[in-house]
Amino acid sequence: MDYAQARTRIAELTQLIDHYNYEYYMNDRSEVSDFEFDGLLRELIDLEKQFPDLAQPDSPTRRVGGEVNKTFRQVAHRFPMLSLGNTYSIEEIEEFEARTRRLLDGTSFSYTCELKYDGVAIGLTYRDGRLVQAVTRGNGTVGDDITSNAVTIKTIPLRLKGEYPADFEARGEVVYPFAEFEAMNRQRVAEGDEPFANPRNAASGSLKLQDSAECARRKLQFCMYFMMLPPDEPTAATEPMFATHSGRLEAAKQMGFKVQPYIKECRDINEIKAYIDYWDRERWNLPFGIDGIVIKVNQCALWDKLGLTAKSPRWAIAYKFKAERVSTPLESVSYQVGRTGVVTPVANLRPVWLGGTTVRRATLNNADFIEKTDIRHGDWLLVEKGGEIIPKVVGVDMEHRLPGAAPVGYATNCPECGTTLVRADGEAGFYCPNSDHCPPQIVGRLEHFASRKAMNLESLGPERLEMLYRAGLVTNIADLYDLTPERLIGLGADSAASIQQKGAAAIMAALETSRQVPFERVVFALGIRFVGEVGAKKLARYFGDIDSLMNATALELAMVEDVGEVTANAVSEWFARPEHREIVERLRRAGLQMKVETSQVVDRLGGRTFVVSGVFDNFSRDEIKTHIEQHGGRVSGSLSGKTDFLLAGEKMGPEKRKKAEKLNIPIISESDYLAMVDDAWM
Ligand code: IVH
Repeated sequence: MDYAQARTRIAELTQLIDHYNYEYYMNDRSEVSDFEFDGLLRELIDLEKQFPDLAQPDSPTRRVGGEVNKTFRQVAHRFPMLSLGNTYSIEEIEEFEARTRRLLDGTSFSYTCELKYDGVAIGLTYRDGRLVQAVTRGNGTVGDDITSNAVTIKTIPLRLKGEYPADFEARGEVVYPFAEFEAMNRQRVAEGDEPFANPRNAASGSLKLQDSAECARRKLQFCMYFMMLPPDEPTAATEPMFATHSGRLEAAKQMGFKVQPYIKECRDINEIKAYIDYWDRERWNLPFGIDGIVIKVNQCALWDKLGLTAKSPRWAIAYKFKAERVSTPLESVSYQVGRTGVVTPVANLRPVWLGGTTVRRATLNNADFIEKTDIRHGDWLLVEKGGEIIPKVVGVDMEHRLPGAAPVGYATNCPECGTTLVRADGEAGFYCPNSDHCPPQIVGRLEHFASRKAMNLESLGPERLEMLYRAGLVTNIADLYDLTPERLIGLGADSAASIQQKGAAAIMAALETSRQVPFERVVFALGIRFVGEVGAKKLARYFGDIDSLMNATALELAMVEDVGEVTANAVSEWFARPEHREIVERLRRAGLQMKVETSQVVDRLGGRTFVVSGVFDNFSRDEIKTHIEQHGGRVSGSLSGKTDFLLAGEKMGPEKRKKAEKLNIPIISESDYLAMVDDAWM
């Protein structure tokens, strides 16, 4: 294909893919098969590679991501991103409405009522119909430039359709729809990652991902709620459609934005109240979260008349929904045992309808919570559902308290293995100490060992591990390396986790690959209480090999940065047990990595301690920390007498500098640091 042909084909493909994307994400309509769509996209990617100067900045290929940002550039908003005055009280909405009417003194006007999305606010700048920048709200004046992640959101148009103002900003909310959010959290848990607490946090975390390809996999949506036109932009004055907020949103829809269909024009307070009532009941049937209703004066020309207060416009207000709360009888308390033996009490409730779902169970967190809340037999509990999806017990409904009711107390024995529960000093809850023989703890430890951040045994998911345990084949992590295809084939014939020839081969291959997993992750995979990913890394790097680690005293262990007394004790107690030493020996014989790869640490920095602050050119903050450690230095979080250097990037706060000067700590730049490492300085 020559240059001219490529140009034509790229334009054709772009138009086709944009069209299919639009139909799919805006109208829920698939006009082609996934296979066909992927083929078109692949063709465009290849052509752009072959003819790089024909690749357009708004090409749909950018939607798959790939750009990696170490830090996000901070940019000033051209127009401040104001927030709204908000209230939980209907009386204050009545006052807002009466005040607005008074100020507008006989002028004819209306309101729009719309949903208040529970997500993350961003502003998108469009010039001549093309997206040029996406910025988070930040503090309203300055935000993060997250353009590389925003382009991966399919409901953000990269190129507008039809007619549009030459220069404007589309403001709206990035939300994580419930179904996608739950699917992502399930996957995170399966891979050993912490689940997100709610869709809002997940949306916010996703927009700040350094790898935009990962952001592309998150199924975020952008819902536009406001068109910001510069004062000198002629469209507003000449186009009648742009004279009202609802008209502007309608126009935005024509341009290709996703705009909520629930927006309603209201004439008076009664219509506003009816809208609020309706959505307070119906909000749980929406596919995404909302936390209130926004009421705006619809006629844009009146906005200037009404003006602004210090932070928010006087022509709009937000009504926020109260968390929904119900009272329901506690039927019983049961106990769940986790991987590390921690016992979580769970309230079994008389089923009750709350915020769109039936609630039957709710966590009681730990023994401390039960004591402090003073839960007694026969009590009715107050259960709430706010922005979070998971219902929360917030107290006891004292109206139903029976005279002389006794406290519910707490289990004395493990519900799984019967062992007497223990509670360490200062801890909020109990745990089952029978770690080696308590079934959920055994399976939990196997799951942890196989998880992505540990040994990454992808073909050994939770169901299969449970099955191997039930079949008596695996009762500890070392047993995994005694598995053979013969023992595996035919297991669980009637279950979804059944293992055939191919499955057995995949398991054997995963075990083989895991023999190359670095020692740091092997230490993490052992599943020692309190030893997380970072702690394992620090322990592994400090001691260098399993024998030094295994024989270290608690005192020596506590010398390691970030390893406190509690963790040090847990590690030394773990290695003190003969059965654990036996497991380690078997893992060693199985060929797992038992020492730090020597090339990983080049001791150039001789154990000097660095505090890192600010933004760097060549590294993200985490990368520079790892770099220091890989060159034999240490990183500490705060300046003290023990700090050898303050490594200062751009935008370091003046307080840090002052403190370092006071303590006589040398302040070095990124290039000073690189020279240090390079010159084998010591
Ligand atoms: S209008 C000047 N409309 O709520 C107009 N805001 O403090 C400013 N929000 O963080 C915003 N849904 O991101 C508007 N339909 C909606 C909204 C909405 C959610 C957020 C907004 C801001 C906060 C208001």
